[in-house]
Amino acid sequence: MASTAAHDSRLARLIGTSAPFREQVDRLARVAACDSRVLISGETGTGKELFAQATHYLSPRAPRPYVAVNCGAIPVELVESELFGHVRGAYTSALSSREGLVPEADGGTLFLDDVDCLPAPAQSKLLRFLQENEYRAVGSNTVRHSDVRVIAASNRNLLELAQRGSFRHDLYYRLNVLKLNLPSLRERREDIPLLAAHFARLFAQQHKRAASALTDAAVAKLTAHDWPGNVRELQHVVERAVLMAAGSRLDAGDMDIDAGERDGGAADAGAGHPTTAAEESFRAAKARMVAQFERGYIETLLSKASGNVTRAARAAQKNRRAFFALMRKYGIDAQQFRSGL
Ligand SMILES: Nc1ncnc2c1ncn2[C@@H]1O[C@H](COP(=O)(O)OP(=O)(O)O)[C@@H](O)[C@H]1O
Ligand SMILES: [Mg+2]
Repeated sequence: MASTAAHDSRLARLIGTSAPFREQVDRLARVAACDSRVLISGETGTGKELFAQATHYLSPRAPRPYVAVNCGAIPVELVESELFGHVRGAYTSALSSREGLVPEADGGTLFLDDVDCLPAPAQSKLLRFLQENEYRAVGSNTVRHSDVRVIAASNRNLLELAQRGSFRHDLYYRLNVLKLNLPSLRERREDIPLLAAHFARLFAQQHKRAASALTDAAVAKLTAHDWPGNVRELQHVVERAVLMAAGSRLDAGDMDIDAGERDGGAADAGAGHPTTAAEESFRAAKARMVAQFERGYIETLLSKASGNVTRAARAAQKNRRAFFALMRKYGIDAQQFRSGL
C-alpha cells in the first residue's frame, strides 16, 4: 500500500471541493483498497482516466504495471490481438508474435477506456478472461493465466447499451462491481474557480508566463459556461488564455470559449443530482452530443490513419490547422495512435 504521504499527494491532485466531487474522491480512496473491478462513468473530460490512475497508484498493485488502452482507438480487427497478443502467422500480416496488454499488465491494472467501443468478439473474449483469468493469444491454443485488475470507463450508459443489445449484459455485470460516477463540471460549478486558478498557475509556470491571476470577470465568465467538454475543455481555455493574454492578469476577454458552445441558460444542475438527458436544456444536451461526436470522430480518423494527422485531416476534408484545433480542444494526442501494430 502507498505510504500516507504519497496517498495524500495523489488525492491532492484531484482538484475540487464540491460535495458531489468529494463524494467520489472519498469513494475512490475506499475503492482503491479493494482488489475488485471498477466501472467509471462520466462525460468526456470529467477525470475518468485521472481516477483510474489514482485507483491503481493508491492500491496494493501500485508497484506493478498500470496499462491503459482506449478501446475506441484501436482498429476493430486488431482489438483482440492488442489485448491478448497474437502468435506469428495468426494473420497474413503477423510476421512475428506480439505480447498483448493483458500479459503486460500482469500483477497490475489494465484500464479499458471507452469500453463501450469494444467490438462483439472482443467483448466475448474479455468476458471469458474476467471469468477465468485465462486467455489465449490470437492464433494460439495455449491457455495462459494473468492476474490483472480491470478498471473500465465509458461516457455512455452501459446498462442502456446492454438493454439495446450493443453491449453484453454479462460483461456489464462483470465489469460493474465497484462504481465511480464522475459529475459533469456544470454539476459542480463551485469548483470552476478552483480548477481555473489551478490550471492558470500550472500553465503560467509551464509556459513561463507572468499572468496567472484571474480577474473576477474572468472567473464569472468561466463559471457561467456549461462546459460540455468538462474539465478538459476548461483546461484548454485557461491554457490558451495564459498563452495569449497581453495584460498582467487573465481577464474575461482572454477566456476564448468556443462560440458554438457559448453558454445560454445553464443546465438544471442541482448538486448531487446527476442531470439526466431529460432535465438538461436543449442547448446543453446538443453541445454535449456535439462534443462527444467530434471527439469520437477525430479519434476514429486518427486511429485509421495510425496517428498521421495530415491523412486524418484529409479524410475529414478539413485543413490540418482546423483539424489540429479540434484535437487540441479535446486534448487528443496523435502520438497515442502511432504505437501498436
Ligand atoms: N478534478 C480534477 N483535478 C485536476 N485535473 C483534472 C480533474 N479532472 C480532470 N482533470 C484533467 O482534465 C483532463 C481530462 O481528464 P481525463 O481524466 O482525461 O478525463 P476523461 O478520461 O473523463 O475524458 C486531464 O488533463 C486531467 O488531468
Ligand atoms: Mg478519457
